[in-house]
Amino acid sequence: MRALQTKPYTPDYPRLCAPLRVGPVTLRNRMCSAPMGFPDLTADGCLTEGAIAFYENRARGGAAIVTISEAVVDYTHGKSHGRLINLQNPDVLASLTNAARAIKRHGALASIELNHSGMLSEFDVIESERAGDKLEHWGPVDTTLPNGSFVRGMTREMIAETLALFAKGAAMVKRAGFDMLMLHAGHGWLIHQFLSPLTNTRTDEYGGSLENRSRLCLEIIDAIRSAVGRGFPIELRFSAMENAAGGVTLEQAIEFAKLVQDKVDILHVSAGGEPDFGVTHPPMFAEPGVNVKYAAEIKKHVHIPVATVGALNEPEQMEEIIASGKADIVCMARALLADPELPKKVEQNRADEILRCIRCFVCHAERMLTQTRVCALNPEIGREYEAKFAKPATASKRVLVAGGGPGGVQCALTAAQRGHKVTLCEKSGRLGGNLNCETNVPFKSAFPKYTATMKRRLELAGVEIRLNTEVTPELVRWFAPDALMVALGAEAAVPPIPGLDGDNVVLGTELDLSEEKVGRRVVVLGGGMVGCESGLHLALKGHKVTIVEMQDKLAPDANPRHRPILMKLLDEHTTVRTGLTAKKVTPEGLLCTDKRGEEVLLQADTVLCAAGLKPLRDGVDALRGTAPIVEVIGDCVKPDIIRGATFRAYHAALDI
Ligand SMILES: Cc1cc2nc3c(=O)[nH]c(=O)nc-3n(C[C@H](O)[C@H](O)[C@H](O)COP(=O)(O)O)c2cc1C
Ligand code: SF4
Repeated sequence: MRALQTKPYTPDYPRLCAPLRVGPVTLRNRMCSAPMGFPDLTADGCLTEGAIAFYENRARGGAAIVTISEAVVDYTHGKSHGRLINLQNPDVLASLTNAARAIKRHGALASIELNHSGMLSEFDVIESERAGDKLEHWGPVDTTLPNGSFVRGMTREMIAETLALFAKGAAMVKRAGFDMLMLHAGHGWLIHQFLSPLTNTRTDEYGGSLENRSRLCLEIIDAIRSAVGRGFPIELRFSAMENAAGGVTLEQAIEFAKLVQDKVDILHVSAGGEPDFGVTHPPMFAEPGVNVKYAAEIKKHVHIPVATVGALNEPEQMEEIIASGKADIVCMARALLADPELPKKVEQNRADEILRCIRCFVCHAERMLTQTRVCALNPEIGREYEAKFAKPATASKRVLVAGGGPGGVQCALTAAQRGHKVTLCEKSGRLGGNLNCETNVPFKSAFPKYTATMKRRLELAGVEIRLNTEVTPELVRWFAPDALMVALGAEAAVPPIPGLDGDNVVLGTELDLSEEKVGRRVVVLGGGMVGCESGLHLALKGHKVTIVEMQDKLAPDANPRHRPILMKLLDEHTTVRTGLTAKKVTPEGLLCTDKRGEEVLLQADTVLCAAGLKPLRDGVDALRGTAPIVEVIGDCVKPDIIRGATFRAYHAALDI
């Protein structure tokens, strides 16, 4: 537990914690929860208890505004996914009301994003659903999308119908008790399609000049305003640039901001069109706060509050953004998935307890793959409703956790939080397990922070941490725990290839300790995620890197949001050789054979062996039967991404 406060409170981040008045509402601080959809909705577009608990969690965590999203004004033509909040359905009102109340009862402002997907309707629907769909897509002009869908250019009647639906949706959310709303004019959806010269080639009053391309947006704002009145803030989300030649530029975005500023209350500056996923959602390779420069530029030209969003989670940086006047509000999406309590921790001077998002895209990918919401680091995401009812332990047990990787630390933390007396033993001299091999990788800088935060949280939760302590059957018998949680992890798999024990070989799992040994020319043996990311890291540092993979595809284990971005970077910075089988490491490099059996020598000063991981099963087997409860968790069951370890570890701790 933290020691009791003995001196008067002064906030570590005073500007970030300062309130902000926007018309009739007051933001309690400058940290807001950016719109995030929660897929667990009913078939007729109502929020479930699970969805409400998801948003409530953000409010409880201290965000000033919590923005519910994926509310669609035209359920027939405007859906991006198969299942969204249907503002045309009067039955949605009760669930919207409950959601607004759940947010407001924790002191946050309840907001909701209204959207229409336009020509990209059903864009994110899984293929099988799309196949049976006879959707008529609406957009600025007649066109055919790459997937064969036909888009009808919107007539004035279709525009009028859409304006009326925005007004109707806005009236509904006001009636439900929301304090404000967000209008989505960015990220490639309908309003953006009209704003962008790339998609809007109309020749009438809705096309051509910036003023004309902005007309639909201005009319929608007017329609909403007529429904909600002046005293109901509208936050306008738009993209300050599009990652394609001929698209929206910062200069155009500034002019657009000037055009709309007298009609709305907050300008929310994001970036990217569609399909700019890696811009709308900055990956781990992007610099922190990558969009702040756009907000700062726009702020120079307008007189209403400006919000910035994208790759933000460091309190120091966010404080500086507000203090220096680059923006008035910082919005976070993923940072508040990884740690919904981030704003509260900032306010309470507990920044050392913040679990920072690693921008791994597991959250996005899982939505694509299974229509569920999860977070790699936070096992409660997607099951906030269940978590509300998690019971403390009925009796406090003595729990011994063997292994200090992600599975071990999560298990120890959850068990201690439930009231057990927990000791965590780690064989090596540091926590973190195999995450440590990426300590020096700049685009993985959140990993060491994860370990440091977990260590701090373990200390605060009263977990006794014993480093350099191997858990043997003898130790368990001497310790006599009620429950033994085995999280021994996995070690590098080293294939039986001659020369892999040579001086010119470095194991991927030991890269952080051996990086100074790595020569200029590097061949990475193994094109899985570890091989690809380590290879990219070395290439970005100036090494000449070749990645060798036996299969035809690199990193098949990478998630479908992260993988394309990683592949593009590998393409730019490394040489990739697939279909090669490694035969021997020689002083010259790595000797392989190709699919025809012909020898290929890849010259290298260093071979980085990243041939996968092998669970430490022998160690596990030795510990079975040594305590009344023995649970095996993490990579020693099966090597997996961090999410697999944290998820299982958390639930194993709930089961004690
Ligand atoms: C899980 C998830 C769901 C999202 N859903 C929406 C959405 O429905 N509407 C929207 O405008 N943006 C959505 N976003 C984008 C975020 O609002 C934000 O712009 C983006 O994630 C970049 O911010 P971050 O780096 O803080 O995550 C979503 C982001 C995440 C992570
Ligand atoms: S899944 Fe990864 S990217 Fe998404 S919020 Fe969690 S840590 Fe961040």
